[in-house]
Amino acid sequence: MQLKTVENYQDMSMVACSIIMEKVKQLESPVLGLATGSTPEGLYKQLIEQYKQDNVSFQNVKTFNLDEYVGLTKQNKQSYDYYMRENLFSHIDIDLANTYLPNGASADLDQECIDYEARIKQAGGIDIQVLGIGLNGHIGFNEPGTNFSSRTHIIDLAESTRTANARFFDSLEEVPEQAITMGVDTIMDSKEILLLVSGEKKAEAVSRMLEGEISEEFPASILQKHPHVTVVGDKAALSLL
Ligand code: F6R
Repeated sequence: MQLKTVENYQDMSMVACSIIMEKVKQLESPVLGLATGSTPEGLYKQLIEQYKQDNVSFQNVKTFNLDEYVGLTKQNKQSYDYYMRENLFSHIDIDLANTYLPNGASADLDQECIDYEARIKQAGGIDIQVLGIGLNGHIGFNEPGTNFSSRTHIIDLAESTRTANARFFDSLEEVPEQAITMGVDTIMDSKEILLLVSGEKKAEAVSRMLEGEISEEFPASILQKHPHVTVVGDKAALSLL
């Protein structure tokens, strides 16, 4: 596990951007695993900026997102599908047909999970997966207690996660109770992982992830076993190490 300590959120985003750009340039048909939430917004802004300056193209890139809320259609402004178009896809030269998110509005969610796994496999697997971390140690929406051998599945969101994400909705009641998420084992299959973390609020989670016991009660702790993880964190987030 490689740890890169940076000054602040802006620097975290810039370092992450250069890691992703290097991967996109190095591979013929790169497959990126992407996350939503507050943490990667700066990374996506930087990537858009680099694209505008002609420093990178996404024409040959495929993307797979970690997760999506159950019950929200692509058109719903709170869906992760919408988030990705708003924050990245609409501003770069990626073919939208090469961008994948689980369909949380599918009539057959179990089949959707199976299909999502198959699509990742068909693309040759994920070259680099961007991750954030939840305060309770979740990665993707794999909440504490999720089996380490899990593949893409439906999960009941923890109340603490719904409360943390209520800031994106008008009220807590509107936050969906379930999500589709890549499983822990799906994430661990990525060839490389780039975990981003910023702010004092995340300091305890980072310390448990890197120095705590490897346990399904704290899903991110499994990353200690992945052969190629880079954690880019600001000083506040890494302050308890
Ligand atoms: C998002 C995701 C989540 C977030 C985590 C941190 O696709 O899978 O695991 O990375 O909840 O969220 P933020 O970045 O909003 O603190």
